[in-house]
Amino acid sequence: MAFKRTHTCGELTAAHLEEEVILNGWVGPRRDLGGLIFIDLRDRYGITQVVFTETDEELHRKAEQLRAEYVVCVKGKVIPRGEENINPNLVTGEIEIEATSLVIYSEAETPPFEIKDGIPTNEETRLRYRYLDLRRPEIQQKLMLRSKAYQVIHSYYQDHNFAEVETPVLMKSTPEGARDYLVPSRVNEGKFFALPQSPQTYKQLLMVSGFDRYFQIVKCFRDEDLRADRQPEFTQIDVEMSFVNEDDVYAHHEGLMKKLFKETIGEEIKTPFPRMTYEQAMNTYGSDKPDTRFGLEFVDFSEIVRGAEFKVFSGTVESGGAVVGITVPGQGEIGRGAIDRLTDRVKKETGAGGLIYIKMQEDGPLCSVAKFLTDDIVTKMVDASGAKKGDLVLILAGPKPSVLEQLGQLRLMMGKEHSLIDESAYNFLWVTEFPLLEWDEETRRYHAMHHPFTSPKEEDMDKLDSDPASVKARAYDLVLNGSEIGGGSIRIHNREVQQKMFELLGIGEKEAEEKFGFLLSAFKYGAPPHGGIALGLDRIIMLLTGAQSLRDVIAFPKNQKAQSLMDNSPDVVDKAQLDELHISLKKKPGA
Ligand code: AMO
Repeated sequence: MAFKRTHTCGELTAAHLEEEVILNGWVGPRRDLGGLIFIDLRDRYGITQVVFTETDEELHRKAEQLRAEYVVCVKGKVIPRGEENINPNLVTGEIEIEATSLVIYSEAETPPFEIKDGIPTNEETRLRYRYLDLRRPEIQQKLMLRSKAYQVIHSYYQDHNFAEVETPVLMKSTPEGARDYLVPSRVNEGKFFALPQSPQTYKQLLMVSGFDRYFQIVKCFRDEDLRADRQPEFTQIDVEMSFVNEDDVYAHHEGLMKKLFKETIGEEIKTPFPRMTYEQAMNTYGSDKPDTRFGLEFVDFSEIVRGAEFKVFSGTVESGGAVVGITVPGQGEIGRGAIDRLTDRVKKETGAGGLIYIKMQEDGPLCSVAKFLTDDIVTKMVDASGAKKGDLVLILAGPKPSVLEQLGQLRLMMGKEHSLIDESAYNFLWVTEFPLLEWDEETRRYHAMHHPFTSPKEEDMDKLDSDPASVKARAYDLVLNGSEIGGGSIRIHNREVQQKMFELLGIGEKEAEEKFGFLLSAFKYGAPPHGGIALGLDRIIMLLTGAQSLRDVIAFPKNQKAQSLMDNSPDVVDKAQLDELHISLKKKPGA
């Protein structure tokens, strides 16, 4: 026997007193007080307390069998809770259900961890039993917020006349930066599809086809080393627009963020977002995704120490490097032990050669390398740093850009350690004017900093041959609180420029034709100027919900080794399956 539920477990209040109701849900903690048995009945909407009295002996005996995570149907009457049992933190905290009948749909074994928030269980167990982890209210709330976000995003783009188009999941392998996940084709012996790292080429082709404005919430796949903010399979809000410039892309996505933050967490976001060039970001924060929720901006001491006797400084500057520092407020009295520990940490975690400091003590500045510097230089450095009594100036010297990145990491360390970050702020930032190319020492060739389809800045076109390293790209990233949540560019829409770009990247004519011939051909038939962006949806949800890892906002995530512990994938497959795909596996050396 079962009954149709009349309410969820999250909605009954004093307004429903005396009503007869039917609830379905999972049994939480059971409290047996002799005559009275209390259970918390849980579903995704909330928790309702149910009480079984001794009036009906058979029902009471049945209730004694209930254990955690049984799935049940309870029929009963809404009654007020005793004064001392009122729970003001629950919507249903003023009432309970006096049960008149009970159906047990499913029994449950004792789960490997208790289904409640803040449990100390390790992540491996949680991922192995993900379907149980997903019963916990905090994870359900995050996924419900994600569900709301999909709706907001769809309505925003539809309101702005974007066409939603699905692009293939089986595509040609055209590595964009990371490694591809490959899929063998049974009917095309020896040939492989790749899963898209992003639908980049398809969305550009849609512009050639005249779709004008495209968006898609789309899965992307990258076989890369994983971190807390990277998954091998992740979701992008992918966008492309024709006849636009950077400002159009910025304005549309500021609008999206404003709506998304308002409608999911009620936060008012100020627009337009500030903009900063890549060069400014690197020189001021040592990062292309600066966290601007706190200061500690860099001070460049290079000109002050040029020609100083201290070779670590003057030698660095002479060889084109930099001497840079940050001023940490209120840390001027740091002790010997603490500064030594900080130095070790900086060397280990950032790779810097050493750490130099000026402590702004009561009786004047104390510089760790004072004996190698004139008082005049130290005074000038203090003046430039803006340090006041009680502050600490931390200085690194080294080649660019690594010294900037090292100081950037030290800045983040100091910001976190000394609670300088305003945790309630949402600081958006457009980072603009990225270099088009970056030199890779290992392969001794240029790589596209964004991707090969990004347009050089118009005024830099004539430097493509003479000085490619100095060419700036029409590329931009959207940064939120130090996380890169999106990236895009205005694209090349001219066949000759695209060919030139491939050439610069060391992709010969034949290879370009093999890999991207379809795009180059499409450009022959009338390509509109176009540009776009892709936003990392998982990262945005992570920031919206305050989660620490992408794994907390993805229903079935992979672990750090790109495995799903729940269904044990990836896994070996039968020889017959491999044979059908014409694949034979190489033995690992020594296996
Ligand atoms: P890009 O490679 O910068 O650009 O990716 C866009 C955004 O996707 C998110 N992201 C990831 N999120 C989780 N796990 C990952 N492994 C991962 N990799 C990237 C980031 C990033 O900013 N086709 C271009 C976009 C364009 O030019 O329009 C692209 O994919 O938030």
